[in-house]
Amino acid sequence: MLLSSKVALITGAAQGIGQAIAERYAADGAKVVLVDVNEAAGSDVVHAIVKRGGNAKFIQADVAEKLDVHNMMAAALEAYNYVDIMVCNAGIVDDASFLDLKEEDFDRVLRTNLKGTFLCAQAAARQMVKQIADSRKPGTIINMSSINAFFGLPDHVAYTASKGGIMQLTRAMAVALAPHGIRVNAIGPGSIETPLLKEILKDEAVRQMVLSRTPLGRVGQPREIAAIAAWLASDEASYITGETIYADGGRLPLNYIMAQKN
Ligand code: NAI
Repeated sequence: MLLSSKVALITGAAQGIGQAIAERYAADGAKVVLVDVNEAAGSDVVHAIVKRGGNAKFIQADVAEKLDVHNMMAAALEAYNYVDIMVCNAGIVDDASFLDLKEEDFDRVLRTNLKGTFLCAQAAARQMVKQIADSRKPGTIINMSSINAFFGLPDHVAYTASKGGIMQLTRAMAVALAPHGIRVNAIGPGSIETPLLKEILKDEAVRQMVLSRTPLGRVGQPREIAAIAAWLASDEASYITGETIYADGGRLPLNYIMAQKN
């Protein structure tokens, strides 16, 4: 199996893309540690994975709290001894026009998305470096960026800034960790049908707007992002580091808009 004998930590794994990554990694043979602030939903996902024969554990943590991240790492090591794959996926959005955006909302989003990614990735990298000294193969880190690392969203200014930051954090970390053989990459999804987007797309005008900017003519599914995360984490991607892979149905290369089918 693609990830057998690997131990993977996935943040924001109680639902959406993180859940899909945890399920895919478990199906590919990894021992998975699901991290989230939402204990009830995260534990449900773990039970479902275990019921299907997978090896999974839930740890409640806020990715932006240093002590939580320390405890998360300690609990993961107690359960599975190693950390081979760290997926920094937890993320939140702000929702206000730039002129109305409050300082505390800017801080809240940057704290979870950018600082949370930094704290988890650094904690994992430190552990991976220790493991290499014990003859374990170098681990790998995957951050969750977005096509909004490039595009500007007028009502999600802090979110946009955080995702651009994650793209650059990924590059800097990749260069810093390359001497250890630790690869660091990111994924930049377009519109992915998680529970939140499903709700938003019920509005036909919004659906048309999204599809007019999506050459493949449909939104993406969480499992399509999980498939990239599985490949990036595997030895099949052994010569790729510092990259963000955009899975967006063709939105980034698109100029103008797509004609809509009626
Ligand atoms: P979601 O909202 O469905 O799931 C996010 C999970 O993160 C939730 O379970 C939540 O409880 C958890 N979380 C939030 N703050 C946390 C914290 N401080 N510590 C630990 N856990 C925390 O989100 P979704 O759609 O699955 O997105 C996952 C990632 O993918 C995010 O980073 C998001 O920005 C990114 N993304 C999503 C896209 C989409 O269309 N759904 C598009 C581009 C990027």
